[in-house]
Amino acid sequence: MILEYLQPDASLLDGITVIIRALYYITTIGAVGLGIFAIGFGHRLEAHETARLHRTLLGAIGAGIALSILALILRVLVLTAGANISDPDVWAAVMRSRIGDAFWLRAGGLVLLAAVVMPWRIRSAMAAIGALLVIASYAAMGHSMLFAPRQEIAALVVLHLAVVAFWVGSLPPLLWVAGRSNSGSAASLIQDWSRAAIWSVMIMLITGVLLSWYLTLRLDRIFDAWHGWALAWKVMAVLAALGLALWNRLRHTPALARGEAGAGDRLAASIKLEMAFVALAFYVAAEMVSVHPVDYGHRITS
Ligand code: HEM
Repeated sequence: MILEYLQPDASLLDGITVIIRALYYITTIGAVGLGIFAIGFGHRLEAHETARLHRTLLGAIGAGIALSILALILRVLVLTAGANISDPDVWAAVMRSRIGDAFWLRAGGLVLLAAVVMPWRIRSAMAAIGALLVIASYAAMGHSMLFAPRQEIAALVVLHLAVVAFWVGSLPPLLWVAGRSNSGSAASLIQDWSRAAIWSVMIMLITGVLLSWYLTLRLDRIFDAWHGWALAWKVMAVLAALGLALWNRLRHTPALARGEAGAGDRLAASIKLEMAFVALAFYVAAEMVSVHPVDYGHRITS
């Protein structure tokens, strides 16, 4: 939205597309993260926390599918210059395009992900396949389809979003666990999660830096395009969220383990702030992929 209006011939529909993209990033990648948390740590949750996780996950899946359909409608409106929302030829063209491919991958994945709330023995396997399909849908569109080397960028986007999903999708259940009356069991779950999260954050940073390098090529000219500025704003939001996560790991969680008064509330307040910065990172990511890095001949033309 912001970058759209910083460029000539701004289009309101294209601006709204960025906001819808940010919302389906948060709901679909958030749903994947909630699913991964349910598979990895669901057995450590109390009954009311499990019920809340299942409700939140199903809500995120429903919202993710609805927002993805809205994004398709917006695409048709953009292609018909806002004139015709029901043109069958335009719809057929959109559904045959990589945007249509990404939609079916994402919607199918979200439906499979819902299996994690069912009492089936194969629920984790079904949900894991669903999670992979949702993440892979982002490699089916976006810059990984426009810039060379395609396979490397696509693989990096998938790995990047898988570990981002684990970190950000775990924040809501960690928030609920921080509020437990039994602070000892809360602290031990959060410390075990944090040990796994360290690896995912490292992979997120490495894949983020590699994606920046592959897409930008000349880092000395990174601010020649709005893409470079968006990347910088995004990294700042991520570093703020990481700073809070580190503070939680070094200060708030040990205080919770010691049973200090108010430690759970302080941790919960910090996790809420961390979630706000992560939401900001998602919004800036949506702005970032709406513009292109400077083209040094690495754009795929065929
Ligand atoms: C909370 C942390 C993060 C979130 C939520 C996040 C989110 C995203 C999303 C949603 C995309 C996919 C865009 C798409 O293809 O549709 C993406 C791609 C990308 N991310 Fe991240 N990311 C995070 C951390 C980072 C970090 C730390 C870096 C840099 C060091 C980074 C650099 C990139 C780059 C360069 C791309 C490719 C963008 C493009 O295709 O133009 N990300 N990120």
